[in-house]
Amino acid sequence: MDKYIIEGGRPLYGEVEIQSAKNAVLPLLAAAVLTEERVVIHRCPRIRDVLNMVQILGELGCKTKWVGDELTIDGGDAANHEIPAALARELRSSVFLLGSVVARFGRARIAYPGGCDIGLRPIDLHLSGLRRLGVWVAEEGGYIDCTCEKVRGAEVVLDCPSVGATENLILAAATAEGRTVIRNAAKEPEIVDLQNFLNRMGAKIAGGGTSVVAVDGVRRLHGAEYTPVSDRIEAGTFLIAAAMCGGELALRNANPENLASLVHKLREISCKIHAKDDKIYIQCGKRRLSPSLVETSPYPGFPTDLQAPMTALACICDGATVVVENLFETRFKHVPELIRMGADITVRGRSAFIRGVPCLHGADVCASDLRGGAALTLAAISAEGQSTVTDLSYIDRGYSDFEFKLRSAGARIRRMRV
Ligand code: UD1
Repeated sequence: MDKYIIEGGRPLYGEVEIQSAKNAVLPLLAAAVLTEERVVIHRCPRIRDVLNMVQILGELGCKTKWVGDELTIDGGDAANHEIPAALARELRSSVFLLGSVVARFGRARIAYPGGCDIGLRPIDLHLSGLRRLGVWVAEEGGYIDCTCEKVRGAEVVLDCPSVGATENLILAAATAEGRTVIRNAAKEPEIVDLQNFLNRMGAKIAGGGTSVVAVDGVRRLHGAEYTPVSDRIEAGTFLIAAAMCGGELALRNANPENLASLVHKLREISCKIHAKDDKIYIQCGKRRLSPSLVETSPYPGFPTDLQAPMTALACICDGATVVVENLFETRFKHVPELIRMGADITVRGRSAFIRGVPCLHGADVCASDLRGGAALTLAAISAEGQSTVTDLSYIDRGYSDFEFKLRSAGARIRRMRV
């Protein structure tokens, strides 16, 4: 289990390059299965979730090849409809493959997907949506089997705007017979990216980014090249890092529009932020006001994926903050670790009550999910004294070169391979 050894307390200065969005790339990889032609993803981050998804594509019979950060997928010989259980359990996004694999082969089999343990994370909306599209879905012995002769367009109303379910249904509907309309769809920028990519492959999809997505099924999709949208969660993580440590950072390849809810909060607590071209600049002093209330909600609300880093920041703000997590039930596992570093937090159900302290102190802490792990790393680089952060396998899921980027901005952080 690798760990970070961190000597905290230094401000951050410099420029950091933001990767393509993990949450955009994973559905794009699932989309690659829909064509027999070559798909090329530029600026594809080599993070663990992506590497696992690429391995699954290989198991389905796709040929994959990396040249630097460019990934080519050739699905011409793909013939397997079974996603291996060990890989499905590694990452939750394997569930997107249900839509594309059943659309391509008329069959799909997958073990219940894994992913970070941040709550119940049901997939009922994915499955009921697929059933609406004429797919026969059976759940038995921890496996899900999907079969259909042809996916048929239909109207699907989602009970809640699930990002994954919206993407899965778009993937299933792209080559279906007739029109699919998804109502109460999720509006995340990564859905717009999936729509743009599929349309470049010849699909007819409209409404991505709004609550109604309409997909007119086409007979076949062709190959395409694509550069995914930048990672708003990685960019948000670095903005919060600067707010915690103080200093001045410029984020390259960042999109401020997709981060409006965070930028608004950071300005409220006295950070100076401006954007020019594809860069976001942040400047922060050592004193921060408290953000008072941070409540997660679907896009364009405050992202649940930035809740843990924001909670870490609130720990060292002047005054009290309430953080309400509305999306996932058990997404406060970073809190006991922050308390070990001197934070003053009480959790009641879905709310964390935080009383700011002047600074955190170093401690040995353990990550138990991706964003929680990032939050603990930020806490450690801003704290006084030395910390260790284990288990980095979570952080490796979603951040490429995390310690390298932080170090290049002045943080004293190194990875110890164990
Ligand atoms: C995606 C993101 C994840 C982010 C989350 C919320 C990817 C790869 N992951 O996850 O980083 O934290 O959006 O922005 O893009 N729900 C159901 N039934 C379902 C599906 C979801 O009840 O079938 C509920 C969930 O329990 C949760 C809410 O819907 O409360 C949102 O989940 P969803 O948007 O589906 O999250 P993911 O797609 O898993």
